[in-house]
Amino acid sequence: MRLTLHIWRQRNAREKGRMVRYEVPNVNRDMSFLEMLDVLNEDLIARGDDPVAFDHDCREGICGMCGFMINGIAHGPLRGTTICQLHMRHFKDGQELYLEPWRARALPVVKDLVVNRSAFDRLIAAGGFISVSTGSAPDGNAILVPKENSDRAMDAAACIGCGACVAMCPNASASLFLGAKIAHLGLLPQGQPERDERAVAMVAQAQQEMFGSCTNIGECEAVCPKEIGLEVIARMNRDFLRATWTGRGVRNEEAAEKPRAGARG
Ligand code: SF4
Ligand code: FES
Repeated sequence: MRLTLHIWRQRNAREKGRMVRYEVPNVNRDMSFLEMLDVLNEDLIARGDDPVAFDHDCREGICGMCGFMINGIAHGPLRGTTICQLHMRHFKDGQELYLEPWRARALPVVKDLVVNRSAFDRLIAAGGFISVSTGSAPDGNAILVPKENSDRAMDAAACIGCGACVAMCPNASASLFLGAKIAHLGLLPQGQPERDERAVAMVAQAQQEMFGSCTNIGECEAVCPKEIGLEVIARMNRDFLRATWTGRGVRNEEAAEKPRAGARG
């Protein structure tokens, strides 16, 4: 099959980008989307042109590195699928595709289709450590967890940090990502000691990073390759409100400096 690609080319974070048109003949239907771009890049390199930069690592849908917009949809048209797992048989011969990087202030473009997602790392760091000693696997298994909670925690832990939820949200909100990270610990006994502080600190960090607020539009859930549900956002909001209302969301060291800071009742 033959494809016409319009790809966002931007040399670096400071320079302006633009869409550039490429013809890709002889696309194998069984190639993944990234393999198709590899073929284009080999051709560009052979011609002495700069290859298209795109992020990738595992190419198995588990690392969260890949991701860009295909015709305005994060990770492309196939639900519950990362771009590395999207195959060309899902496209039509002669189709025209527009590839653009995630567009969000908190995830700035580094080059072409690559964005800087270090804001996500800072959100995770703001969440802090689990202070309980979890021991080895047998110790972990000795702590009884209700089946429903363990299932929901596992579902939330499936988040691979790709950023599609932010890219697709009209508010560039990171709430689905945050909700997943907060839920996967908050549902387990080992996550209870820091549960309140974690929710407050992560939400505060998201505001600092200039992610937008959630207005329940649901685009994030629709494009999430791990099909994380909106319920994690409700859970995050509940944890955040409980922590701020009770004043329990203040970290111990902050509380020691400023007793009852953040307490509202
Ligand atoms: S919640 Fe889904 S879309 Fe958002 S970062 Fe995690 S895996 Fe990606
Ligand atoms: S390259 Fe790892 S999830 Fe796509």
